[in-house]
Amino acid sequence: MKFFIDTANLDQIKEAQQLGVLDGVTTNPSLMAKEGITGKDNILKHYVDICNIVDGDVSAEVVATEFEAMVKEGEELAELHEQIVVKVPMIKDGVKALKYFSDSGIRTNCTLVFSAGQALLAAKAGATYVSPFLGRLDDISTDGLNLISEIRLIYDNYGFDTQILAASIRHTMHVIDCAKIGADVMTGPLSSITGLLNHPLTDIGLEKFLADYRKGNS
Ligand code: E4P
Repeated sequence: MKFFIDTANLDQIKEAQQLGVLDGVTTNPSLMAKEGITGKDNILKHYVDICNIVDGDVSAEVVATEFEAMVKEGEELAELHEQIVVKVPMIKDGVKALKYFSDSGIRTNCTLVFSAGQALLAAKAGATYVSPFLGRLDDISTDGLNLISEIRLIYDNYGFDTQILAASIRHTMHVIDCAKIGADVMTGPLSSITGLLNHPLTDIGLEKFLADYRKGNS
């Protein structure tokens, strides 16, 4: 399972990269705005800064919603850096753009996916990644994990290469559950990755080992 971090915060990206388990980064316009990154030039520069920190894919989202404009914007993003994956929303023109990018050799991440039918369309259009938003489905009392299972089944039935990128991950149990289902990738906040480290028995055990060592070596 690949681990992506879902943020535009460079310090958090560096921290995850230094842990040695990071495979990529996802961003979206809201995450960029949260870091105060505004204006086209600053946004493009920020994507390059992220690419220079991580070894892996960096999703950069188009803000155009009409086919021609999406293609123009996506091509510009893809030219920024070889690690860029163009993130395209699941709308009609987005599906057309996914197909265009796929035929042009530009890698894509189909975002804002909330149903198995949308995921099937994204795969048919040749998306590199599909991003079902697990947490946002859970927020409206819908079973987000069930959607991941449905997509896994459908993709396996037909041998689609599109990778399932479980997005909108909120906590460590989402990560574990997605790993059990067989999601190819998870993207979530830094805490959903570092939280995997924690177990009270590890802390108690280490404390005891070190105390016993100190007894015999003081
Ligand atoms: C996916 O790529 C999105 O950026 C993200 O996972 C959305 O998550 P949220 O529901 O926490 O905003």
